[in-house]
Amino acid sequence: MQQLVDEINERARAKFGTGRVADYIPALAEQNANKFGIAVCTNDGQVYAAGDARDAFSVQSIAKVFLLTLSLRVYQDTLWERVGLNPSGMPFNSLTQLEAERGKPRNPFINAGAIVVADRLVSAFATPSKHIRDVARRLSGNESILIDARVLESEWQHRSRNAAMAYLMKAFGNIDNDVDQVLHSYFSCCSLAMSCVDLAIALNYLAADGHAQAMGEQFIAADLARRINSIMFTCGMYDAAGDFAYRVGLPAKSGVGGGIIAIVPGKMTVCAWSPALDENGNSVAAQYALELLANEMGCEFG
Ligand code: DON
Repeated sequence: MQQLVDEINERARAKFGTGRVADYIPALAEQNANKFGIAVCTNDGQVYAAGDARDAFSVQSIAKVFLLTLSLRVYQDTLWERVGLNPSGMPFNSLTQLEAERGKPRNPFINAGAIVVADRLVSAFATPSKHIRDVARRLSGNESILIDARVLESEWQHRSRNAAMAYLMKAFGNIDNDVDQVLHSYFSCCSLAMSCVDLAIALNYLAADGHAQAMGEQFIAADLARRINSIMFTCGMYDAAGDFAYRVGLPAKSGVGGGIIAIVPGKMTVCAWSPALDENGNSVAAQYALELLANEMGCEFG
């Protein structure tokens, strides 16, 4: 496996120069595009890493997996009264469906859906972003994980589109708390800085029937892990979910920081990262790396 990740690291770097670093959050525009990392965490606790796999980057929408997991732990299936379970067929920050669908977002992995989920957590926890940061630390076994204050401030300064969604949903009665407080919690989670190694370990509970290896405990029920994986499979890569399913065939979640976490149920997690994105907001080199891994491992994944 170490040989395989080393080889993928070499080959994925050939994609440098393709795609563009996200610039709609100015702090992300400063990222070095010529970075690539990959980490595999097997269910028996082995970690294989290559390239820049220990560099912390902005997790961005990968945080939506933590938000969803924690919210489902509190609200179980009643969460689905607030947010749907189907692909949107729209960009992740689109507003158009929200008006027609009376403020109920299509799924928890588009921005509007994650903002609703963040609202649920604001109702449940005194300081949801600290809670999520602490959970990320315990899940990854890395106590030094931080919320990047510069990214958070940059997201806050450029929040107009997310704020528009939140106010529209509030007008439809689908946000209970103060909009600024909900947005601040949502941005704080997106601004978590974690490495490929951190994320592969932290999200391994999705590959291991809900068992979190760094915590040494059952973090969520096995059937909940299976359900979260299903939503990742259908909605985790936005408009490109179908392409990615065809090319890689694994539940995955991307973020505009350039990270992608992929789950191989029953076996391992893989996190790949490279900041330059395609037109859907998914990392070019990270997608390619996961495709190479899937091709190489073939039916060993199944
Ligand atoms: O709210 C936003 O737009 C960002 N904090 C997160 C977007 C994101 O990562 C979408 N993913 N591809």
